[in-house]
Amino acid sequence: MSQIAAQPDARIDRPIALVGLMGAGKTTVGRRLARALGLRFFDADREIERAADRSVVEIFSDFGEEAFRDGERKVIARLLDEGPCVIALGGGAFANDATRALIREKAVTVWLKADLDTLMERVSRRETRPLLLTGDPRQVMADLMAKREAAYRQADLTVDATSASHQATMKAIVAALEDAGVLS
Ligand code: S3P
Repeated sequence: MSQIAAQPDARIDRPIALVGLMGAGKTTVGRRLARALGLRFFDADREIERAADRSVVEIFSDFGEEAFRDGERKVIARLLDEGPCVIALGGGAFANDATRALIREKAVTVWLKADLDTLMERVSRRETRPLLLTGDPRQVMADLMAKREAAYRQADLTVDATSASHQATMKAIVAALEDAGVLS
């Protein structure tokens, strides 16, 4: 039996993948979205950590970013075969050409777009992000924003996540999916 047939009541026939920079709210909003739609939720970074038996910070420091990206692509490829679900992607996944191609083939993608102040406010709460542990985090984030914008724009839908509550962002995603005819 296919994954899709296993969830006959699902309002969507494929994974919903949330795209965007660190601090955009992908994990929190994704969890709420999954609950609202009765879908399973996966956080790609947590799945990578589980597969590697190491934290993201440790994977970067022990093996480097390139190895992290390889592991990330493999884990995401597996999650994309889970059928209808919500996947919170790490901020760099959709900026990686090979990983983005896989995601675009199998999921409906939503870019949670937020301004720099909102992102910095949210990431300042944790020190779990290796890319922000060296240098000036605000400058690093601004650079990533400029560098990744063209990739993020390739998401199927864009939802403004600036300053909005996670609940409001979740509802905006549901409305955008309905408007696009992807969610019944
Ligand atoms: C990264 C974002 C992180 C994590 C890793 C690299 C990035 O995920 O995958 O630290 O390149 O933007 P979040 O976006 O969930 O913080």
